[in-house]
Amino acid sequence: MAKKGRMKVRVGDLVIGPEEREAIMGVLDSGKISEGRCTRSFELEWATYIGTKDAVATNSGTSALISGLTALHYVPDGIAPGSKIVTTPLTYAATSNAIILTGHEPVFVDVDADTFGITTESIREELEHCDDPSEYSTLLPVHLMGYPCDLNGILRIARENDMVLFEDSAQAHGSIYDGRRTGSIGRLAAFSFYIAHNIQVGELGAVTSSDEALIRRVRQVKANGRMCDCPRCMREEVGCVKRTSVNDHDARFTHEIMGYNFKTMEFQTALANVQLKIIESIIKRRQENVRYLNDGLSALSGTIKLPTFSNKVSYLGYPVVIEDSRFVRNRVLLQLEDLGVETRPLFGCIPLQQPSYSAFKHRYEGCLPNAEYLGAHAFYIGCHQYLTEDDLDMIIRTFKEVFA
Ligand SMILES: Cc1ncc(COP(=O)(O)O)c(C=O)c1O
Repeated sequence: MAKKGRMKVRVGDLVIGPEEREAIMGVLDSGKISEGRCTRSFELEWATYIGTKDAVATNSGTSALISGLTALHYVPDGIAPGSKIVTTPLTYAATSNAIILTGHEPVFVDVDADTFGITTESIREELEHCDDPSEYSTLLPVHLMGYPCDLNGILRIARENDMVLFEDSAQAHGSIYDGRRTGSIGRLAAFSFYIAHNIQVGELGAVTSSDEALIRRVRQVKANGRMCDCPRCMREEVGCVKRTSVNDHDARFTHEIMGYNFKTMEFQTALANVQLKIIESIIKRRQENVRYLNDGLSALSGTIKLPTFSNKVSYLGYPVVIEDSRFVRNRVLLQLEDLGVETRPLFGCIPLQQPSYSAFKHRYEGCLPNAEYLGAHAFYIGCHQYLTEDDLDMIIRTFKEVFA
């Protein structure tokens, strides 16, 4: 029987080794802790890894989403404030919050019951039955838990309807879809490097894109709309040498559009640079853990649904869906936590289950059966690279005890 006590298996863990310490000391010794060399190096490395021309670091995944959506207001073939954005109801609240906070209307469509992402069928159904498809500007799928959505199908719908494809790849660091990494297929994508993600540094985000005009605008939005958009001034201790045409002002203090301060710090990107060197082994280790847990828990099938395994998925966590109605999620999660396995609900169905979205409830009642079921019955635990075989065996024993 598993022992009650201190949390043993956490959703995510962070181990600071000698290389990470050295990277942090390097930042301290450099005398520059705001954005600089580490940040630019991270942007270039991340863009190369994902497969886009460039990336812009932001201080969170939420601010990456807000920066990306705001930047789209200022580019040719961009989107208009007030337009509708088709997205998933089953996600961390940041996705739909960013849509609303940038002046758009989220339109929620149902998800796939196995891979948790919005489907081409549900998007098409929405566009076919709406009053005016021209009000819809953007498709914003989320690759939840690392499972890529059907991006070929979604991209086709975006092209047919003159819509932008913006991937929320916050939870999918290095997942492969049709030979390419998620975050490189849409016009732009947002990432989060929050705790428990494959690359995790506390708080950090990034926007990836190969659209240079868009990247330039994202760079401006995250720095209060400053005219200077060159990553170069981040590297030059002497400051920006570019001059604007406006009164010969320093471009860093001439503001072309309005924006935010979403800049990050060197500490986070220095840590990310160290982890990025071993990202493939992190992904592989997590996949091995998912497989090990699936084997060990196969006897519980019918009671709980185990995650679909694919070596193309870069797993954020180990998602489980309760199928046997004798088991109530809240009670199960309390028992698991009590026995040392940390848990998280699978976010909840935003328009139906999140109090901040109660104004949307009436409109979506009965319309999102998969998201509603998963939002109430699914949860996830850690499958991270620091788990040992003993930890995995402990999870298996604990699940068998709780779901007996
Ligand atoms: C799908 C999704 N989008 C956006 C975010 C926001 O990222 P952050 O917490 O870094 O702001 C997260 C966070 O985990 C997320 O899971």
